[in-house]
Amino acid sequence: MEQPQGSAGGSRPARSLARRLRTRARARLTGLRGGAPAGVSAPSPVNRRHARDELLGRLPKGGVCAEVGTWKGDFSARILELLEPRLLYLIDPWEYRGESEYEHSMYGGHKPDGARAIEAIHQSVVDRFSTQIESGQVVVMRMRSDQAAAQLPNESLDWAYIDADHTYESVIADLRNFHGVVKPGGMLAGDDFGEAGWWENGVTRAVEEFTASGLCGAPTMMGSQFLFTKHG
Ligand SMILES: C[S@@+](CC[C@H](N)C(=O)[O-])C[C@H]1O[C@@H](n2cnc3c(N)ncnc32)[C@H](O)[C@@H]1O
Repeated sequence: MEQPQGSAGGSRPARSLARRLRTRARARLTGLRGGAPAGVSAPSPVNRRHARDELLGRLPKGGVCAEVGTWKGDFSARILELLEPRLLYLIDPWEYRGESEYEHSMYGGHKPDGARAIEAIHQSVVDRFSTQIESGQVVVMRMRSDQAAAQLPNESLDWAYIDADHTYESVIADLRNFHGVVKPGGMLAGDDFGEAGWWENGVTRAVEEFTASGLCGAPTMMGSQFLFTKHG
């Protein structure tokens, strides 16, 4: 297992070599499927929207699925519109994180009224999808992803979209946990491959490591979106 980025381990040349190896591995990965090379500048919002719609076009309609990391529900609304799922779990703890690691995340830092703002976002999601919640099409699971994965029956989802805590440790755990929750032949997708942010390159490292595990076939890349298919 790789050292978490930014950990004390390794001399400068060793870290630089590790960085070069990761870049090469990314190039191999993206080259396989013709995706945008990782490490390039962030895609524009239009490209991101385009890539996400392309991704949604590859996911089955009418399924049982989960968006892991929901925030204000903008992508949830797109999922509902384009895929008309039978059941969509919206998984998010909507919790304010005061730890220094999360200082630059959208749900952390030392913002005045941070916790109250997150509370309001949760309420806005419940209001936004009240019709679907009432009909049973949407189920809100206000909890961290590891807890949600433990509550959902094994092999019960057609697909899951991973867009929660972007740290390496959390993304690799989400990929492994939701791999168990997705049906054989089902799909595991997610956001922000090749993107650098407050999470450094946690998503990219986790996706590379998950690819190397062989639990799924090689991912298809669409810009920063990744898509694994679980073996049948
Ligand atoms: C990038 S936002 C999600 C954006 C959303 N998928 C969209 O496209 O509109 C990340 C979300 O992950 C949530 N989150 C953070 N840690 C989490 C965890 N351990 N489990 C589930 N969600 C988490 C945050 O509260 C935040 O709402």
